[in-house]
Amino acid sequence: MSTELAVIPAPVSTAARYAHVIGWGMHVPEKIVTNDDLSKIVDTNDEWIQARTGIRQRHVAADHESTVTFAVAAARKALAKANISPAEVDLIIVGTASPEHIFPSTACLVQDALGATNAGAYDLLAACTSFIYALSQASNAIKANEVDTVLVIGAEALSKITDWSDRGTCILFGDGAGAFVMQARSEPGGFVNSILRSDGSGGPSLVVPAGGTGMPASTKTVMDNQHYIKMNGREVFRFATRVMASACQEAAQRAGITIEDIDIFVPHQANKRIIESATKKLKVAPEKMVVTIQDYGNTSSASIPIAICEAIDKGQIKQNDTLMLVAFGGGLTWGAGVLKWDVPPPAPPTRVQTARRSLFYRYARVKSFFRRMIRFVESRVFGDGVN
Ligand code: ACO
Repeated sequence: MSTELAVIPAPVSTAARYAHVIGWGMHVPEKIVTNDDLSKIVDTNDEWIQARTGIRQRHVAADHESTVTFAVAAARKALAKANISPAEVDLIIVGTASPEHIFPSTACLVQDALGATNAGAYDLLAACTSFIYALSQASNAIKANEVDTVLVIGAEALSKITDWSDRGTCILFGDGAGAFVMQARSEPGGFVNSILRSDGSGGPSLVVPAGGTGMPASTKTVMDNQHYIKMNGREVFRFATRVMASACQEAAQRAGITIEDIDIFVPHQANKRIIESATKKLKVAPEKMVVTIQDYGNTSSASIPIAICEAIDKGQIKQNDTLMLVAFGGGLTWGAGVLKWDVPPPAPPTRVQTARRSLFYRYARVKSFFRRMIRFVESRVFGDGVN
């Protein structure tokens, strides 16, 4: 027998591939909590919150809503905008800091709800930087010819892990989701490049201490509020103002462009003062910065796609603009990415297409129900044995 290793043939397609955004969508829960509402539950006031953070209100999940609810709603809008079927999606990546469970992944639950039966699915946990990390992975998988179409989602239900008696954190966070459909194209453009960074030595400054394997859930951890976000605000603030501008400069340099070539900056919406500090350091006009924090608070990995959807609707982002996306968050993590917004605006779906789409989602629910039934029947017939 030959001991030589088999030679794996080179991939057939060597043509250049680019990862373009062809659909986008966002969703936030209906319930709004204003600063005045918060002043009734903790010692704070509207003036302080607006002056120190820029936040006026945030959207908060109802009891029956969760990260999956928001992710699915945003994904459906992005797929409708791209006018493609969930069956065409090859990969779903959900960036989140508040996953539905440790496992199964939020992405798998989204896959099932959408009926995306040909897709792989996984969660990406890089806190508020997750969406940029996820865009980078999606773009690289497309460019490497592993997949053609990727659904990238940033989704959060942070209100479920917020300590509503801690005024240092509960004033900051909001819930919601944003989604992009990315697809392979032969024309240059789309997601150009990114830089991704981390510094785990800063992990304790932004942490949910309990509920993982380091501090498993117990009555004591629950009594001590250890399942909620704990943050050293000043430390995170200092870190954020240090890395935001330098990350943009590094990403621009790698893309072979300068900061002056950027039309619009979409920073993570954590604190208006952090965005203002980056604006000054980068020496860019404030009109070039997308700021939506006043209406949504910090929606972590959802903040960048939500800000992009809002900026498109308001005409702040236009076709062929070069965008710089930049974020920081727990981990500590940070990153920036250059995105050419160069796909022509898709035509609105016809009534027939909308009806077909809604039928598809109903059919997906029925199929999922039958799959669960088959599993149930199998377990009755075969018991727990595998032989
Ligand atoms: N209302 C009224 N007063 C308050 C509040 C509040 N909600 N919170 C704090 N204060 C008080 C403090 O007790 C303090 O009072 P003292 O001077 O008598 O001690 C004073 O206000 C100043 O407190 P600071 O903590 O210094 O306030 P600061 O200006 O730093 O603002 C904040 C706090 C808003 C949290 C800020 O530090 C911040 O935004 N940090 C970054 C947070 C962030 O970006 N997190 C990212 C999360 S991303 C992720 O991965 C989930």
